[in-house]
Amino acid sequence: MSTTVIQAEAIENIPQHIAIIMDGNGRWAQQQGKRRVTGHKAGVESVRASVSCARKLGVKALTLFAFSSENWQRPEKEVSVLMDLFMFVLTREVKRLHKNNIKFQVIGDLSRFSSKLQQKIAEAEKLTEDNTSMVLSIAANYGGRWDITHAAKQLTQKVLNNEIALDDINESSFNAHTSLAQLPELDLLIRTGGDYRISNFLLWQAAYAEFYFTDILWPDFDEEQLKKAISIFNQRERRFGQTSDQIKK
Ligand code: IPE
Ligand code: IPE
Ligand code: MG
Repeated sequence: MSTTVIQAEAIENIPQHIAIIMDGNGRWAQQQGKRRVTGHKAGVESVRASVSCARKLGVKALTLFAFSSENWQRPEKEVSVLMDLFMFVLTREVKRLHKNNIKFQVIGDLSRFSSKLQQKIAEAEKLTEDNTSMVLSIAANYGGRWDITHAAKQLTQKVLNNEIALDDINESSFNAHTSLAQLPELDLLIRTGGDYRISNFLLWQAAYAEFYFTDILWPDFDEEQLKKAISIFNQRERRFGQTSDQIKK
């Protein structure tokens, strides 16, 4: 029996849906006197380790923040390297994801990406659409405010088209128009890199998520780190507005 299996059994309660703000690539590289892009390349290994570990543990959905709607403001060269890397990794990894029965999807406003990249994404989503072991969502050109605005716009359009009434807009129908609506509720939100903020990630979805912040820089985040985050999640008491006594009953 491998150590992975033993440890998986030791964790009693596996979160169904984990999201990660993968931060600290640039600093990781700079600490070693290397260019920031070296950190982005090294970060790909951490993505692979997290996907593989999450799937083995039985996590149902893993959502990774790869590129925010604000990241376009970075130097042009860094943005273009990130796009190339995304394209390269997608091409290389999609077969492996498929082999592992993982459903792949990208959330965010894809319209700003090159048509070649959009096509690659569509192909990967199509290939893996019926897979059932885990859903891997990559947030790219994603912003929580964009997500909420987008849902509001879609619902408004339906009202204007007389497809629904104004009173049909409620938390549940609104939620159905946001990204990740078809997945289990977000249980655990991890941020690496030492900052304590959400940076416009899953604003709507994080309503009752547990937050876990670590100083570890993303390229140093591995299977052990993920298990540590999950075991700390296990020590939390999620009350959802109720009292501790009510929860224990
Ligand atoms: C996260 O690492 C990756 C992206 C935002 C694409 P950073 O590039 O933000 O690394 P730091 O925070 O500057 O170290
Ligand atoms: C958040 O990291 C976005 C991703 C990890 C993709 P940033 O590095 O862009 O966040 P800020 O700018 O420090 O808040
Ligand atoms: Mg950063």
